[in-house]
Amino acid sequence: MKTLVIYYSRTGATRGVAEELAHRLDAVLTEITSPRFRLNPFGYLRAGFDSVRGKLPPIVVPELDFALYDLVLVGAPIWTSYPALPVRSFFAEAGTLGRETALFFTCEGHSPVQAAVDEVRRLWPHTIKDAISINMKEESEVARANALLDFTVRLGVEPPAGTD
Ligand SMILES: Cc1cc2nc3c(=O)[nH]c(=O)nc-3n(C[C@H](O)[C@H](O)[C@H](O)COP(=O)(O)O)c2cc1C
Repeated sequence: MKTLVIYYSRTGATRGVAEELAHRLDAVLTEITSPRFRLNPFGYLRAGFDSVRGKLPPIVVPELDFALYDLVLVGAPIWTSYPALPVRSFFAEAGTLGRETALFFTCEGHSPVQAAVDEVRRLWPHTIKDAISINMKEESEVARANALLDFTVRLGVEPPAGTD
């Protein structure tokens, strides 16, 4: 089974989860970038302000043939209850992805996953197999690891032998 993990991360939390998933699933790992939301207070304010307005930014997506993949996992932080804007741009521009597509989000605990999934559905009219939101602030490391394990089991991906 060929799996791709593609994500946007501004401060690194989603990157960490993406790396963990890619390791567990023996997946190709790649990143969406956007120069608009820098790692300074102004970048933070801009992210919040643009997110509320739904102002989709230009993004850079590596050249990929998504059709090669059985499963594509798309990851984003939650911004103002929705997927971070670069991932909203990604879905607004994307055609079909892999044979199946699933979502993972990171947040700080005050956003239901359904609002984020509904926003992806609005932008991208294809089937979403599953979605998970990891609370980076309130969940323990063990709880987060268990949630990810449960997610990979639900996705039906056999981890490569020797993964722990
Ligand atoms: C502009 C902005 C808005 C955010 N809004 C929410 C929110 O509505 N709910 C939530 O739980 N976390 C919210 N967060 C927190 C992020 O989702 C959380 O810190 C995330 O793990 C960051 O991921 P990253 O390190 O990959 O960028 C927000 C963060 C930013 C920068």
